[in-house]
Amino acid sequence: MKRTSAPQRIVITGASRGIGRATALALAERGAHLVLCARGIDALEEVAAAARSCGAASAHAIVLDVADDASVRAGCRQVLELGPVDALINNAGGCEQKTFLAQAPEQCEYETVVNFLGPQRMVRALLPSMLERRTGTILNVSSLLGAVPCPTTATYSGAKAALNAWSHALRGELTDSGVRVVVFMPSHTDTEGGARSRFDGVYLLPLDYTVRELLRALDRAPRSYTTSPVFRMFLRVAAVFPVWGERQVARSTRAVLASSPKPHAPPRTAHLPTPSPDRTPWSRGAPRRTEPSPPPSTCSDSPSEQTRAKHPS
Ligand SMILES: NC(=O)c1ccc[n+]([C@@H]2O[C@H](COP(=O)([O-])OP(=O)(O)OC[C@H]3O[C@@H](n4cnc5c(N)ncnc54)[C@H](OP(=O)(O)O)[C@@H]3O)[C@@H](O)[C@H]2O)c1
Repeated sequence: MKRTSAPQRIVITGASRGIGRATALALAERGAHLVLCARGIDALEEVAAAARSCGAASAHAIVLDVADDASVRAGCRQVLELGPVDALINNAGGCEQKTFLAQAPEQCEYETVVNFLGPQRMVRALLPSMLERRTGTILNVSSLLGAVPCPTTATYSGAKAALNAWSHALRGELTDSGVRVVVFMPSHTDTEGGARSRFDGVYLLPLDYTVRELLRALDRAPRSYTTSPVFRMFLRVAAVFPVWGERQVARSTRAVLASSPKPHAPPRTAHLPTPSPDRTPWSRGAPRRTEPSPPPSTCSDSPSEQTRAKHPS
């Protein structure tokens, strides 16, 4: 998004807290028209009021659930009534840090929808108006974990990786259309959402740092943008040595893995063929005749009982 003197109309999903809220307030200082979306109206209204007092040209709160297609369509109709959109920041998302089998299937599906289908729905609703005006920026907030998948966040990593691939494909479709697509990949950042995950040894980025990086990505609109030079270098090396990269990330989740419930290992005998009286598991050729087995032992057949019977004293 080029910085021009005219105020830009910017839609932010997940604007009620964390990265979305802080981005809204930073853009307010630039005098932008803000359209703030999330599910909770009270928190959104508070951000809208704060944005106006920080210098926003306007700030509107629109309730919208990116996990619900009808809600996105209704919300985006309201967005377009306010005027044309210059930039869409698809930021709503979240992660439940759990091993795959420990995560409820409904939660897996929800996480995939919010992180992957949510941005698609917003783009489906708002891209046509950008194409009509032949201008616009779509910034999809992904994650470092979308580029280097991580144990304990398999669903999240998968959804963000899908978001990355879809964004890059969309950019190819929009060549020469005037609309730009950016993948923004923050690493672990100090927010309410970030605090729900634990990555030992990974530097927790201050929120204002991540937001400064996001604004830089919005202004420059590169193909993708990773927060901090350290993580940019990490991704470059990990692209050449993926196993090394995955090991580094996995190391940070050892403690979470160790405290996670272990999937039940099947009993060893489950892999063996069912023994039959005529065929032992190790016999390959003709069935072997075996002596009839003795009747099942009882307590009185135990060695001590037998010994006592032979030596009654
Ligand atoms: N923080 C990190 O460490 C980190 C690192 C990498 C990437 N990211 C990504 O950055 C984005 C923001 O993260 P954050 O840490 O700021 O999260 P956060 O503090 O949990 O805030 C999430 C925001 O998204 C909104 N939201 C959640 N579900 C929604 C839904 N179904 N529909 C509409 N809005 C919804 C929430 O508001 P309501 O609950 O009111 O809807 C809230 O405004 C996410 O996409 C996340 O994956 C974060």
